[in-house]
Amino acid sequence: MTDKFTLARARFPGALTQAYIDVASRGLLPGDAPQIAHDHLRERVLGRTDKAAYFEVVEQARRGIARLLHAHVEEIAITKNVSDGLNMVANALDWKAGDEVWLCSAVEHPNNLYAWRNLEALGVKVRDFEAAESEFPIDAVIEALQGHHRARVITVSATSFLPGFRVDLDRLGAACRATGVRLVVDGAQSAGITHIDVEKTPIDALAMSTQKGLCSVYGMGFLYVRREFAEELRPRYLARFGVDIPATHEADYDAAPIRLQPAALRFDLGNYNFLAATLVTHALDLLNSLGSKDIDDHVCHLARRLGDGLVELGVPMVIPRLGRQANMICIESRRGQAPALALQEYLKTLNVQAAVRRNAVRFSFHFYNSEEDVDAALNGCSSWLTQHWPTFGFEDVNQ
Ligand SMILES: Cc1ncc(COP(=O)(O)O)c(C=O)c1O
Repeated sequence: MTDKFTLARARFPGALTQAYIDVASRGLLPGDAPQIAHDHLRERVLGRTDKAAYFEVVEQARRGIARLLHAHVEEIAITKNVSDGLNMVANALDWKAGDEVWLCSAVEHPNNLYAWRNLEALGVKVRDFEAAESEFPIDAVIEALQGHHRARVITVSATSFLPGFRVDLDRLGAACRATGVRLVVDGAQSAGITHIDVEKTPIDALAMSTQKGLCSVYGMGFLYVRREFAEELRPRYLARFGVDIPATHEADYDAAPIRLQPAALRFDLGNYNFLAATLVTHALDLLNSLGSKDIDDHVCHLARRLGDGLVELGVPMVIPRLGRQANMICIESRRGQAPALALQEYLKTLNVQAAVRRNAVRFSFHFYNSEEDVDAALNGCSSWLTQHWPTFGFEDVNQ
């Protein structure tokens, strides 16, 4: 019997014509996406837009992501991207001068740094922990939580964009909860890829975007906020959809005192990216039918296979000690970025797509990848590295 991942892969032409190992930059769209977008736009061209159907698609997308995360539908806000969601949360807390945000800048994307650094203008202190090798220093952070402190938020990526390690959110979340600190997670690299169950894992907010693991276009995101946390928050921006009034039309106004929508719905602003919502609804149906646990197992298996193959070739690999390897594998040059770019270019000639971030070639898997993709990447790396080993600064490593 053909397995469900093979069947799903067949719906992604971009996965069949090359080894596309770069979901961490952006995911592939399914082959029917252009038709779906065409039908959506055609309605506008012909002036036949059904606005009620538009809103229903947004609600379907909200239900789809809630199902994937085991969240309540009201705990999902519709956003533009990851930084939009992070900024919504960062600016909705009632900060007092001297309050602290804890993070580790060495493992974060800048979009999970500036949102918090911006609070320095309010007297908030951003405490930047040193990385433990290439990882979020979970032990040091948990130890610091035991003493006297002013931390109100700890923020971390569920999977770092480089080198792609996962932090133990269960352990970190439990320590945060025990000490009254909120855990805000950047889910850019995990949404649709990593199994996250917010019923079990005590994270308070999770910001996501739709163009990577959620196999859709740029310009839309989701923000999960746990109900009890969301209801402590006052959005900095407010629009009609964030306010709970008896009337139902989008253009209705109520002069009564403002009552915010329940939970994360208060963060919704004005009209949505209905095209992106239409596309991501289809992708979420597929992701939910595959199941997040199975997707997680599949991508980690492929990453492990690639990592093990590179170790066999003699490539020095950084292994996570505190967290876990995710869907990503990086080959890091010790001689700057140029060798990484050269390997990436060579891989392209073999129809293998990978990214370069800083000095590393980054391979990142999704459900549409297969073992053949791993083999293609390994064959390419093997033939290139045997010729260019010293350019990566690996001379001291036995080949
Ligand atoms: C960990 C992480 N956070 C955030 C982003 C981007 O944030 P935004 O959706 O705001 O562009 C990325 C990558 O694009 C990322 O890898």
